[in-house]
Amino acid sequence: MERRLIMSDFGFLLAYVTLLLSVSLEASGGPSEIKTGTAFFIFGDSSVDSGNNNYIDTIPENRGNYKPYAQNGFFKEPTGRFSDGRIIVDYIAEYANLPLIPPFLQPSAEYVNGVNFASGGAGVLSTTNQGQAIDLKTQLKHFEEVQNSLTKKLGDAETKELLSEAVYFISIGSNDYMGGYLGNPRMQEQHPPEEYVGMIIGNLTQAIQELYEKGGRKFGFLSLSPLGCLPALRALNTKSNVGSCFEEASTLALAHNNALKAVLTRIEHLFMGFKYSNSYFYNWLDDRINNPTKFGFKDGVNACCGTGPYGGIFSCGGTKKVREYQLCDNADDYVWWDSFHPTERIHEQFAKALWDGPPSYVAPYNLKDLFLTINKEKLTIGDIVDNPENEQTFYESL
Ligand SMILES: *[C@@H]1O[C@H](CO)[C@@H](O)[C@H](O)[C@H]1NC(C)=O
Repeated sequence: MERRLIMSDFGFLLAYVTLLLSVSLEASGGPSEIKTGTAFFIFGDSSVDSGNNNYIDTIPENRGNYKPYAQNGFFKEPTGRFSDGRIIVDYIAEYANLPLIPPFLQPSAEYVNGVNFASGGAGVLSTTNQGQAIDLKTQLKHFEEVQNSLTKKLGDAETKELLSEAVYFISIGSNDYMGGYLGNPRMQEQHPPEEYVGMIIGNLTQAIQELYEKGGRKFGFLSLSPLGCLPALRALNTKSNVGSCFEEASTLALAHNNALKAVLTRIEHLFMGFKYSNSYFYNWLDDRINNPTKFGFKDGVNACCGTGPYGGIFSCGGTKKVREYQLCDNADDYVWWDSFHPTERIHEQFAKALWDGPPSYVAPYNLKDLFLTINKEKLTIGDIVDNPENEQTFYESL
């Protein structure tokens, strides 16, 4: 039986967003001499991690720096990306004429074109996979370090300009619903699903606000996929119709996506100059899972790399709990690379859709608009309404 989560009660969440009647904005300096491209800052989980987890103490499940990851040869060696090759943010960087964006933890990473803070296994909540990933709050602290370092290097005015023109891309939440909730009976006892989704969205909203207050204006969001159709979750579905997706997980993902959409609409009106691109990954991927041949794939159900039913036992690479694994002949025929992550081909197709796709996949702006078309709102002193008291109330209510 499908349990429906109707997110009708998002009023409570919007209420405190509304409390933020004003935010303090600092006027940026005059026209700048030094020109940089539009920088790209990335936050999230394994869907966008380009190697941060290589530098932290974690479990092999949260790493992609061993074979056969990266086997298609685009990278000489496995990099930590959870793919047979590139991931979505690599393509977006390419379309935006940027070099590959370095992981924050990579020694001597260059920051001026942006930084990737994402970490495989990470959640919005720090309790999700605690101690095994860099949670979103810590990713924001790392961003602050980058901000300070850029200010030292480029000066205050340049840095403000760079940060206000940059695109902030956030792809997170799946781990909060999988390990953090469905895999955590105590959390399920403490919070009914609707309330839990509210917590995730509430904390995600705080993160967006924090980036906005640090000067971020252009945001991109990767919405959640049909989580129950990941090979690992399909294999867990032992209920009535074996072989179908794990409905509870997909239902949570849909509820999350609906709630995020509602919050972004609201924020757009409240945060002056806030521009965003939201994606509709759920239906997009569902189409490919159900009709792979229509999109040039042969298999939408099984993982190319893994063990057991649907390749759903997360064994790819032979470094995890289960050592044996099977590898398909041609990853390009598959939607799923391993038990949790799609192939490079899916990453590329979706990056294209996000870059200049139609409003059914990406709205209200696509990423091309954010990177190339929309100019920073030029703020003037007259735009600035500084009311610390309102801001204080906002924080206390969160
Ligand atoms: C953020 O998550 C915590 C649990 O970690 C929760 O208690 C809190 O209410 C959430 N904040 C918002 C604004 O939803």
